[in-house]
Amino acid sequence: MGYVIAVAGKGGTGKTTISAFIIDWLAKELKGTILASDADPNSNLADALGLKEGETIVGILEGIANSTDTVPAGMTKERYIDLKVQESLVETPRFDLLVMGRPEGPGCYCYANNVLRGIIEKLEKNYDYIVMDNEAGMEHLSRRTRRKIDLLLLVSDATVVGIRSAKRILDLANELEIEITKSTLLVNRSILDVAPIKNEAKKLGLDLLEILPEDPRINELKIENKSVLGLTQDAELRTLLAEALKKRCPVAKKIVH
Ligand SMILES: Nc1ncnc2c1ncn2[C@@H]1O[C@H](COP(=O)(O)OP(=O)(O)OP(=O)(O)O)[C@@H](O)[C@H]1O
Ligand SMILES: [Mg+2]
Repeated sequence: MGYVIAVAGKGGTGKTTISAFIIDWLAKELKGTILASDADPNSNLADALGLKEGETIVGILEGIANSTDTVPAGMTKERYIDLKVQESLVETPRFDLLVMGRPEGPGCYCYANNVLRGIIEKLEKNYDYIVMDNEAGMEHLSRRTRRKIDLLLLVSDATVVGIRSAKRILDLANELEIEITKSTLLVNRSILDVAPIKNEAKKLGLDLLEILPEDPRINELKIENKSVLGLTQDAELRTLLAEALKKRCPVAKKIVH
């Protein structure tokens, strides 16, 4: 079973940006296969990685459920779903990307979620690392059958309120009875004095992994519709993140091959 890194946090704090940097770092620095998993097509992990996203898993399931896509004769529905899921993976030499999509509407919710669970479980077995870019809510995490996350990264903006919301997300994950081996806080887009933030994290009992700076070049890349991976490797944001992962998170020790 692969090493699962889940990136969670409130809306717009930098989950997708940070996920992209982590995936790129894992792919460059460590041996092992990587599955990048995008919970929500609106979160645009594909864009952040500079890829065109494939069909979403939910889209595939819905197509089959409402018969806009028919299972070929002589094939079971399960086998057909497996094939379509494999086809929908965006494969690169360094990692694969899975775009999950979100089940819409109360009717299909249970069915789609149950099928999704099975698919995620089956797929994750094939990879050494799974990096999940979560949506702002925790639905993505609650969808998992294997309720284990090796590393939960709580991304927050550089405000006291942001830190409190990271703590609420951690509490929620615990309420969902997800087994978390390590959880840690990543403060992002910091420009000002960080003392109040450090104090709040300490008060709430959150482990603070790193404080990452605001980097205006990220916005420039976005304006030009370029991947955030265009940010040079020596950018402080990237080196701080890489060093923190290397030193403080047991990621590198988990390689299977
Ligand atoms: N360190 C940073 N410096 C400058 N801009 C940043 C930084 N981190 C993220 N951003 C910008 O902040 C915005 C939000 O980032 P991102 O999309 O990664 O957040 P998110 O948490 O994934 O959002 P959502 O909850 O909508 O999925 C983006 O425009 C991104 O380019
Ligand atoms: Mg996002």
